[in-house]
Amino acid sequence: MIKALRGPMLSFSEQPPTAGEGAYRYLEDGLLTIEHGRISQIDDASRLAPTLAPETVIDHFPGKLIMPGFIDLHIHYPQTQVIASYGAQLLEWLERYTFVEELKYADPDHAAAGARFFLAELLRNGTTTAAVYCAVSPNSVEAFFAESERCNTRMIAGKVMMDRNAPPGLRDTPEQGYADSRALLEKWHGRGRQLYALTPRFAITSTEAQLEATGTLKREFPDTYLQTHISENRAEVAEVARLFPWSESYTHVYDRYGLLGERTLLGHCIHLTEPELQRLSETATVAALCPTSNLFIGSGLFDLQALHRQPRPVRTGLGTDVGGGTSYSMLRTAAEAYKVMQLQGQNLPALEAFHMITCGNAHALSLGDKIGRLAPGYEADIVVLDPTATPTMRHRMETAAGNLPETLFVLMTLGDDRAIHRTYVAGDCL
Ligand code: GUN
Ligand code: ZN
Repeated sequence: MIKALRGPMLSFSEQPPTAGEGAYRYLEDGLLTIEHGRISQIDDASRLAPTLAPETVIDHFPGKLIMPGFIDLHIHYPQTQVIASYGAQLLEWLERYTFVEELKYADPDHAAAGARFFLAELLRNGTTTAAVYCAVSPNSVEAFFAESERCNTRMIAGKVMMDRNAPPGLRDTPEQGYADSRALLEKWHGRGRQLYALTPRFAITSTEAQLEATGTLKREFPDTYLQTHISENRAEVAEVARLFPWSESYTHVYDRYGLLGERTLLGHCIHLTEPELQRLSETATVAALCPTSNLFIGSGLFDLQALHRQPRPVRTGLGTDVGGGTSYSMLRTAAEAYKVMQLQGQNLPALEAFHMITCGNAHALSLGDKIGRLAPGYEADIVVLDPTATPTMRHRMETAAGNLPETLFVLMTLGDDRAIHRTYVAGDCL
């Protein structure tokens, strides 16, 4: 059956909006139709509405804004009860708070309840796709994909691999990490909307043998993703140099085992050197930037201008990094990215921020032909935003209404889950 949404609509094309004309399409009164979970038509309501039965049209005109569902490039599902943990920087934060919680995810019931809460929270915040770290236990991955399959969300996730510098119950071995990851990806990668990511936590918690085994898996299954952390915190960078004395840099460690590439997502990328940025650019590796986390854990300020610098631009995107990050909302995440850039005399125009959290992050995931746009053939993952969701927003919108960049800036600066009016997953409102 055809279902249709009507209202103001905004969608970006592949180009970042700084590329000018044609980089986005805004319909003041648009209408899109959904068939079998995909968008089938999109046009001005005046043209499309007469061809449809009125009772099939869900009307969000005027006042709302219909956009592609948000995409989160980096988040940890077993950290829903780590979020808002006080007073520690990265390495102490991991030991004191994070590992304790992730241990609990070996229990299938705890994992299932955690996955249910987590996915509901993502959808409540308008996020329809995310690259997700599970825990070390395969049970945690099974629970996550089972819940994502039930919601029919397009998710990328994987089992964390750690074979050192972690508590005994939270360690695998190179052989076990390889075997468990392989079995999980053979079961879940490409099943329905689910996709698998090889997930060595970071260089501190994997031996050379485990990184080697990860490289083997990446070669054996080249269309899976690989996600890990890099250069988030200065003490972390120093520890990696100590653990890998032969390495020229943190990036060199991952490069040595063949872990870089266009399906590799590196969380944080704050303290990288120029040769490292060059290598990420050459290998088309993606930097997943996580501003709320970097500010909260006190890690530092990512330098987006330096990352994008020609002639060696690095591919980038935005992630929440919950529970180091402090919000599931990609609106809040965009607001904090803006502030991180302001602190360095840089700017993040609202059009670019909304491009990043939709089409830009879809391209960062090599899924730019499936999600992140409102266009025929695209999967119907859609968010309906309310720029007047709170008294403060409503009051501010009295002077911004009718101005698209200003409306978007109000949404990202003042908005959060309260500004998410509806979330549609493959055409169904969840
Ligand atoms: N580095 C290694 N593991 C983690 C994690 O869980 N969160 C963050 N923010 N950084 C990490
Ligand atoms: Zn992280």
